[in-house]
Amino acid sequence: YSLLPYNTFGINVQAARFVEYVSVDELVAFLSANEKERSSFLQIGGGSNLLFTSDYSGTILHSAIKGYEITGQTKDYVEVCVGASEVWDDFVSYAVSCGWYGAENLSLIPGEVGASAVQNIGAYGVEVKDLIRLVDAVCIETGDVRRFSAEECQYAYRSSVFKKELKNKYIVTHVTYRLSKHPLYRLDYGNIRTELEKEKCELTLDNIRRLIIKIREAKLPDPKRIGNAGSFFMNPFIEKSQYEVLLKAYPDMPCYPAADGLVKIPAGWLIERCGWKGKSLGRAGVYEKQALVLVNRGGATGEEVVRLAKEIIRSVEEKFGITIKPEVNII
Ligand code: EPU
Repeated sequence: YSLLPYNTFGINVQAARFVEYVSVDELVAFLSANEKERSSFLQIGGGSNLLFTSDYSGTILHSAIKGYEITGQTKDYVEVCVGASEVWDDFVSYAVSCGWYGAENLSLIPGEVGASAVQNIGAYGVEVKDLIRLVDAVCIETGDVRRFSAEECQYAYRSSVFKKELKNKYIVTHVTYRLSKHPLYRLDYGNIRTELEKEKCELTLDNIRRLIIKIREAKLPDPKRIGNAGSFFMNPFIEKSQYEVLLKAYPDMPCYPAADGLVKIPAGWLIERCGWKGKSLGRAGVYEKQALVLVNRGGATGEEVVRLAKEIIRSVEEKFGITIKPEVNII
């Protein structure tokens, strides 16, 4: 079974088996009928945060659970329960068209709703954890259905309990988001405010969505044209004291303040300073307009991308003494 349509990196690998389910009942029935293969299951979403380095000898699971359902509302907010296989950006577009605030800064992020809750997708000063109320998931081992509160999901930067203690243990089937009925703009990340002023456009939900899409399209490659999985690395956190030492050697080194006396450094800046921007190693490359994004220049294997990633990690370590880690799930 070819996985080419199921990974935005455009890696041409095969899976032994590919199973799609349309409901929670169907998933539970499949799990109980296939108990022996359980350790070989790999749940994927839109495949926009994956890098396959070889054929997959187990079973790939993909949700086809769809639907939006309003499960609660007050005069201030609305709660919507969304099927895991809905395309994330379709949901953002829907929320914007309904006049619900909160998701617009996360416009155009590739992938599906289920993965949004595992990965805690984020952009332009918003993380999806700010919107998530509940996550429904099925336990792979027991088939039990469990509802997680946002707190139980233990959200952190690009992380959740589903990537830590419960990694490969639960399959997300629905996510309930709470969106505001009142304006709640977040404009303080980077150049959003200045871009808005430059465009001389009114502050509306539609305009914010349009602007975010424009900024993303200018910086990030379209996976339909150039294989990639967005940011390949996470932005590293370092001690403030280490940052101050580095600042003496690199006075223009940017940083974002973080909790616990740490600062977050844009990995794209570190990689660019190591001279990697626009470079290639074999058929894998570093995107010309955003050094945090690795791209498939055509026909690359997963191994080739990993080789490039390792070289980059090594040079960032050598130059700055900072270890950057992949954000992409390497299989
Ligand atoms: N920078 C460079 N050179 C580069 C890229 C970035 O110097 O080639 C520096 C610049 O100083 C820039 C700063 O890095 O001001 C931040 O760049 P950008 O706003 O593009 O954001 P990022 O930190 O590189 C993160 C997310 C993106 C998200 C943007 C916007 C991670 C791993 N990535 O990137 O998320 O869209 O912020 O909020 O946190 C993704 O996760 O796949 C993703 C695309």
